[in-house]
Amino acid sequence: MFKTSVIFGTRPEAIKLFPVVNALKATDGIDCNVLVSAQHREMLDQVLEVGGITPDHDLNVMQPGQSLDALTARLLEGIGSVLDEEKPDRVVVQGDTATAMVAALAAYYRKIPVSHVEAGLRSYNIYHPWPEEVNRKIIGTIANQHFAPTDVSAGALKAEAVPEDQVYITGNTVIDALHWVSGKIENDPSLASGLSELEKRFQGKKIIGITTHRRENFGDGMDNIASAIGEIAKRDDIACIFPVHLNPNVRAVMNEKLGNLDNVAMIEPLDYPHFARLLGICHLMLTDSGGVQEEAPALGKPVLVMRETTERPEGVTAGTAKLIGTDKDRIVAEVSTLLDDDDAYTAMARAHNPFGDGNSSLRIAEIIAKGFV
Ligand code: UD1
Ligand code: UDP
Repeated sequence: MFKTSVIFGTRPEAIKLFPVVNALKATDGIDCNVLVSAQHREMLDQVLEVGGITPDHDLNVMQPGQSLDALTARLLEGIGSVLDEEKPDRVVVQGDTATAMVAALAAYYRKIPVSHVEAGLRSYNIYHPWPEEVNRKIIGTIANQHFAPTDVSAGALKAEAVPEDQVYITGNTVIDALHWVSGKIENDPSLASGLSELEKRFQGKKIIGITTHRRENFGDGMDNIASAIGEIAKRDDIACIFPVHLNPNVRAVMNEKLGNLDNVAMIEPLDYPHFARLLGICHLMLTDSGGVQEEAPALGKPVLVMRETTERPEGVTAGTAKLIGTDKDRIVAEVSTLLDDDDAYTAMARAHNPFGDGNSSLRIAEIIAKGFV
């Protein structure tokens, strides 16, 4: 048996890796264990529960308002110790978080080969997104299996002279997760029925789904986003459903500026079935999230991206996503256009699936298994 350690720590990594863990566990010849750093706590646990994953190791590193320095230091020591104990033949990481970067580094320090899921995303700006652009470049330097979601990300790796036989176009595992959760909800709608009160309250209004959390938007960016939402909320034909990220840098400003608006429901982070429901009922998404830029196009929901750059140009190219930055007036103008101009809305609201067919995890597990032969 070949031992593979899958290492992650935040909500989006868990969403994108639970299908990979399940595929690896179902693969002959592979002994798959799971190490969570718990860089996120509650938001990670929500996904572990839904995805049915029981970690073999849980470092429980999250501290309130954690700095990048302290988080990175805790991660390196913690992950290193578990690797010394488990001695896996391969480590699997996903994306670009501190946990993913440090796990790759800790594996490298022990000369353990690394597989990178969602490889090759690049914005070509090391401060947007910050610090993710550098995290994923570090992982890319270390990994010897790069699972690129699309030919765009595969092309970025090739341009960096990553050997072609190490780059695999697999699609993005988020689509696997989305298909899986949609099937679960179809079989059992009660899994996502927790929004029904809000749905009733906002009946007849166009729902705007909102998420925001990016570090590079802290300060002025978050202030602008909050002011823009406040301005949009003056309309009586819309309602906002805004599951607020647990990061205190996000909560403080949103609570201060949006706390008392009737048609802005600021709610706790939703578990994945409920978030999938929100994606289903919304008229449009307003977000700075990476994952939402992949999910919304798959469901034909226009997504306005409150960032200066994106490492996911596929949604923009397809016309379902638009980069709008964090200027207050621009956000208000772009949302208003989608609300008032039917042609502009229809042009964006086309289901398009550049990020895969929902079978990425199976491909990845197969490639990892072959690598051991
Ligand atoms: C992290 C990732 C980011 C990813 C995002 C997904 C890094 C540097 N950042 O950013 O790439 O896009 O997750 O959401 O890896 N908190 C809780 N409970 C939780 C989660 C967070 O209380 O379950 C609070 C804590 O106070 C914590 C803070 O949020 O210290 C920040 O968490 P952290 O993981 O450092 O940063 P994120 O902004 O969540
Ligand atoms: N998500 C969720 N509940 C929420 C908000 C988001 O389950 O309340 C999911 C969403 O479907 C996507 C992922 O979390 O798959 C995105 O996570 P986040 O925006 O925190 O991180 P990013 O993708 O920007 O790294």
